[in-house]
Amino acid sequence: MRILAIETSCDETAAAVLEGTGERLAVVASRVRSQIETHAVYGGVIPEVAAREHAELMMPLLHGLVPPDGAGIDAVAVTYGPGLAPALRVGVATAVGLAIGWQKPLVGVCHLEGHIYAAWLPKAGDDAADRPLPQFPVLALVVSGGHTELVLMKDHGEFERLGETHDDAAGEAFDKVASMLGLAYPGGPKVAALAEGGDVKAFAFPRALLKDKTDDFSFSGLKTSVLYTLREHEALIEEERFRSDIAASFQEAVVDVLVQKTMRAAARLAPKSIVLAGGVAANAALRGRLQEVCDAAAIPLFLPQFAYTLDNAAMIGAAGYFRFLRGDVADPLSIKANPSLDIV
Ligand code: KG4
Ligand code: ZN
Repeated sequence: MRILAIETSCDETAAAVLEGTGERLAVVASRVRSQIETHAVYGGVIPEVAAREHAELMMPLLHGLVPPDGAGIDAVAVTYGPGLAPALRVGVATAVGLAIGWQKPLVGVCHLEGHIYAAWLPKAGDDAADRPLPQFPVLALVVSGGHTELVLMKDHGEFERLGETHDDAAGEAFDKVASMLGLAYPGGPKVAALAEGGDVKAFAFPRALLKDKTDDFSFSGLKTSVLYTLREHEALIEEERFRSDIAASFQEAVVDVLVQKTMRAAARLAPKSIVLAGGVAANAALRGRLQEVCDAAAIPLFLPQFAYTLDNAAMIGAAGYFRFLRGDVADPLSIKANPSLDIV
């Protein structure tokens, strides 16, 4: 069956068509239009500006992706939360209109669930029938610009949140440190690039809640510690070596906490697979370290393809497909954007 998926929760306007057969998914087409340039001017995403851009970009994005009469499409999936309310509404209104017009079922998808389902998406062109898929129970580390959570997924659609951040999300911490270093939004990838040449031991930044028994996280102390270090060494702020050391030591602290807490939960819960999800899953240091420890613990790790780590609609189509299989469809006349939607 073929599903059209739409994603507009933040600053990416995205649409994708997926073909599902049993447990297997193929991405027929995935389109993403980033609004980064628009928002970089403001140093962050302005919800009303994002919504306006989504509205302008949506129809050109869908043009040529699906036939105007919806022929060949069996269902429409859409992110209805969490995210920015005005931005979410554009995607939801579009999906509702198409589902009603085409008389096709509508599936509402949680954005975080979508990030986790990126692990079910194959590499472009890889349609091997024996490609391994995550096995339940899955332990998922969801690290994005808005969320940092450890989630236990017992089966399709059965989620238990084990822990979450008390304050900043991991991606948000990357973005804030980037901004302290004068790097434009979104700075996560820029801090990661800067960290490449740096010394991870140059600065001993705090690893919050590492000894704590819960699966919770906290990154605001780390962010403040970076700020104070930058203030202490104001004269060095333009020096490449110093900047790289700050970035590397900061990144190391984030990776240490994320990886150690994930593996501690894994030791307790014995998952059959671990999944890394969300925008920060693009971080090479995090991917590398998690791969090392999962190999050592003999737990299969599923890393999303780079194309499906940042916000995209293919992951929403994947989550929507499994919801559709369970008969979990929405009423197009009553579905509403829910900015604070939870995964559980
Ligand atoms: O999942 P996502 O695209 O949007 C949300 O749902 O929030 O995640 C975006 C976040 C941003 O904070 C961005 O800076 C961060 O992911 N990010 C990275 C990297 N690439 C993106 N953080 C660290 N290293 C990266 N390579
Ligand atoms: Zn996201």
